Amino acid sequence: MLFEPYNLAGIELKNRLIRSATYEKRADIDGFVTDALIEFYKDLAKGGIGLIITGNALVHTSGRSVPQMICIHNDHYIDKLKRLTDAVHRHDGKIVIQLVHGGRQCFPALLGGEKPIAPSEVYDPSTKITPREMTNEEIWETIEAFGDAARRAMYASFDGIQIHGAHGYLVSEFLSPHTNRRKDYWGGDAERRFHFLEETYKAIRKEVGDNYPVLIKMNGDDFVENGLNPEESVKIAKRLKELGIDAIEVSGGMYESGAKTAQLNILKTEQEAYFRNSSGLLKKETDIPVILVGGIRSKAIAEDILEKKDADLISISRPLIREPDLPNKFMAGKEKADCISCNGCMRFQKLDVVKCTQI
Ligand SMILES: Cc1cc2nc3c(=O)[nH]c(=O)nc-3n(C[C@H](O)[C@H](O)[C@H](O)COP(=O)(O)O)c2cc1C
Repeated sequence: MLFEPYNLAGIELKNRLIRSATYEKRADIDGFVTDALIEFYKDLAKGGIGLIITGNALVHTSGRSVPQMICIHNDHYIDKLKRLTDAVHRHDGKIVIQLVHGGRQCFPALLGGEKPIAPSEVYDPSTKITPREMTNEEIWETIEAFGDAARRAMYASFDGIQIHGAHGYLVSEFLSPHTNRRKDYWGGDAERRFHFLEETYKAIRKEVGDNYPVLIKMNGDDFVENGLNPEESVKIAKRLKELGIDAIEVSGGMYESGAKTAQLNILKTEQEAYFRNSSGLLKKETDIPVILVGGIRSKAIAEDILEKKDADLISISRPLIREPDLPNKFMAGKEKADCISCNGCMRFQKLDVVKCTQI
């Protein structure tokens, strides 16, 4: 099944393998697309992947979480982003851009010395930062920024957008009872915690219309005390379905939870696909296309996930940093990715660009 085509909300995928959003550190210091970034994505497109999701792209300067990330927070970025999508399309690839605001997981050094902003002032022991609570005005401004960014993505010929609603960044912070302690329209109970995502989704649809693919990556589980859990995630997915979301990519964890998102040393098949329960639950409880990410390394496991209907699509990140042509290799008979999940590629600060440190 892995190499069967799939129609994802109108995007014709040549197979069911997706490159999960992965920060590249290849934009210039102002966030413009560079030749190096284009070459990097050309290699992925040539490598046979069904769909590329870009590294997280910035919708508002108050949400910058890493240096040299792709930016899409004003119209000046559109022309160069179009060069990127043209290059991928020329190589028979499809490309969706992931839209992000980093929320409390940003560092003052990247915010001109300002404190990061978040739904509530909840201390993050992993960064030792207490963010500043967003005002109502800032919340609406950020929602509008997501909508504007989606419109730019469409103008730049991306095949769709993905809202980054996972991993403890801003959207995920609003959804999580751990990071959202507000007692106003934006928080208090599950329905009100959903409002930020709901308004963001509506702002995006207002800009791109009903037919443009809008995906989301979200946590099945935050893996922190009082965080989002699988039951609540299913409820969110059902609400998203009512609104018209086109697909959900299931992940988990946040900075504070430790290495849950990109788990270490995935060497045995039993360790693979560590969020499979979350995606299986979502598949059972909703009829939204579900994308599973997290530790998938073997072709046989990927096939098994699809056959047992625990997901509709398979998403991978780290293995493609090491082998951008892994899909072609799988098709030619390779059984397992070479990636050893050492997370050397995640030492962003030390690396000039995000790359595999084993080769
Ligand atoms: C270097 C690196 C950068 C990442 N950047 C992003 C990102 O921009 N957006 C995102 O949603 N996830 C990001 N992730 C998480 C991956 O998309 C993925 O969820 C995680 O690595 C687990 O999948 P894997 O086992 O196939 O690597 C990143 C992971 C790595 C290793």
